This record gives sequence, structure tokens and C-alpha cells, in this order.
Amino acid sequence: MHDYTHTTALVTGASKGLGEAYARELASRGAHLILVARSADALHALAGQLRAAHSVRVDVIAADLSDRRAPRTVVDAVDELGLDVDLLVNNAGVGAVGPFLGRPLEPTLQSVDVNVTALIGLVHLLGARMVERGHGGIVNVASTAAFQPMPYQAGYAATKAFVLSFTEALAEEVRGTGVRVMAAHPGATATGFFDGTTASMNPKSTDSPADVAAGTLDDFARGRSLSFPGRASQRAGVWASRLLPRTTVARLTGSLNRKAGFAEAADVGELGELDSIASREK
Ligand SMILES: NC(=O)c1ccc[n+]([C@@H]2O[C@H](COP(=O)([O-])OP(=O)(O)OC[C@H]3O[C@@H](n4cnc5c(N)ncnc54)[C@H](OP(=O)(O)O)[C@@H]3O)[C@@H](O)[C@H]2O)c1
Repeated sequence: MHDYTHTTALVTGASKGLGEAYARELASRGAHLILVARSADALHALAGQLRAAHSVRVDVIAADLSDRRAPRTVVDAVDELGLDVDLLVNNAGVGAVGPFLGRPLEPTLQSVDVNVTALIGLVHLLGARMVERGHGGIVNVASTAAFQPMPYQAGYAATKAFVLSFTEALAEEVRGTGVRVMAAHPGATATGFFDGTTASMNPKSTDSPADVAAGTLDDFARGRSLSFPGRASQRAGVWASRLLPRTTVARLTGSLNRKAGFAEAADVGELGELDSIASREK
């Protein structure tokens, strides 16, 4: 069983939601932390709470991971702190929701930048150092959305499919080096993931961030290479997508997402724009 005590973990997207839960859970298991996200105030507030509650060192690096230079900047800041990262939790992620066409491209591009480009950038820099040292761990937070196409979350699900494929391949590349790589696939989790959009999750079918974080870290500690830290039903779609033709799966997920209202979902900032397009079309 992997022991987190006195290890140093870098958690991206630690200012709220699942990343905050990973940070809290790691601190409670004795890990020192480096918290990364854009919201410096939220990170410092969390760092203060963690230091007060646990005997751990907590540092903060404020960075915008949609900037292609961010992984280098973050690693330079880690070096300035004089720290080695033992565990990288690549958790920061964003997702556009709504139809892909006829909507601004920017949220989908942000999703690719944060979920994919920043993630592989950090793995490339920190993973190489871990292999050199002969130990370390990487947890890439993907999603159950990684396993099937998701109409109305098309770009988001595709970024998570990338994370799944990339992580599985890398885990094999580093096998035997002392470095372990795991993908975590939460299902719907009660966070502010859809904040700023008109979409929402059904509270009856969401897991708590604390449970998901604890489940992920338990799975990593057990040496697993993939983790489904949510309730069992969250995993059902994963099996369906393995058994059914891909077009059938896309129809099914499209139908589920239409029922959830995602076909009409938009960023809150876009609503005025969409109303005026709709009234022009009437
Ligand atoms: N919630 C779910 O149902 C669910 C399900 C499966 C997988 N996931 C995955 O879990 C991860 C965490 O999501 P969440 O639900 O906790 O979402 P969340 O509550 O919206 O938190 C997202 C985190 O990512 C950070 N972030 C966003 N854009 C960033 C940027 N440009 N640079 C740096 N940090 C950035 C945010 O911090 P700042 O805004 O302060 O930068 C925040 O800390 C994501 O990878 C998501 O895809 C979530």
C-alpha cells in the first residue's frame, strides 16, 4: 500500500471542487502540498486551513494552465521552492457544454488547452524527473466521459478520451521504472463544474468530491492503473460502450444529454446573444 505520509503532492485545479478535495484528503494522509490554479486567494485560504489542521507544508503556485508556457512556469516555481514532486495530480479541467456548431469555439479550445496540453506538459516535465529519481506517481483525472462520444459535450469527452489513452500508454512506457501512472474516472460529482453555464447535474446521481478523492487515492495506493472512484452505477456506461457499436453509443449518450437539457445549454454570457439569434430566426 502506497503511503502518502511526508510525500510532496502537486495538485492542479486545487482552488475548488474535486481538486480541493484531493488536497484536503492528501493533507489528512500526511502529504505536503503544492496547490495550483488561477484563483490565488482561494488557494491561499485553503493552504492556511490545511496548515492549521495538519502538520504539512503547503505552497501555492497561481498559474493559468490554458497558457502553453504554464507547465514550465509551474515547474520553475517548484524549483524555486526547492521541492521535488513525488505525486502529480493532474486534476484541473474545464468542459464546454451545448452543441458544438453555432457556439463560440473558445470554451472548447480552453478545454483542450487545460485538459490536454497542460496535462501532458506537466507529465513531460515532472514525469521525466520522477523516472530519473526512480520513484514517483502521476494521477491524471479523466472521467467516465472518456469512454464514449458525448454529443453536446463533444470536445470535453474527446479531451478525456485523450487523457485515458495517453495515461494507459504512458503507464506501460514507465512500467518497471519505479514511477506509477493512473487515470481516475469519476462520474458526475457535486462540484461547480457547470458554473457559468445553464447546465446542471442531477443532485440525486452525483457523488461527493470527498468520496471521489478518497476513492482515487485508495486505488492509487493499491497500485491500480485505473480508478473508478464513483458509485457503481457511474461505471455502467463504460461497459455499454465496450459492448455496443460506437454509433449506437453516440445515439444513446446524445439522447441522455438531450434529456439533461444539454442540447440547449450555453455559457451564461452567451444567453443574450442566443436570444437575439433566436428572435432573428422567428
Ligand atoms: N464534476 C464532475 O462531475 C466531474 C466528473 C468527471 C471528471 N471531472 C473532472 O474533475 C476535474 C475537476 O473538476 P471539478 O468538477 O472539480 O470542476 P471545478 O469545480 O470547476 O474545478 C475546476 C478546477 O480547475 C481549475 N482550473 C480551471 N481552469 C483553469 C486554468 N485555466 N488554469 C488553472 N486552473 C484552472 C479551477 O481553478 P481556477 O478557476 O481557480 O483556475 C478549479 O480549481 C476536471 O478535470 C473534470 O473534468 C469532473
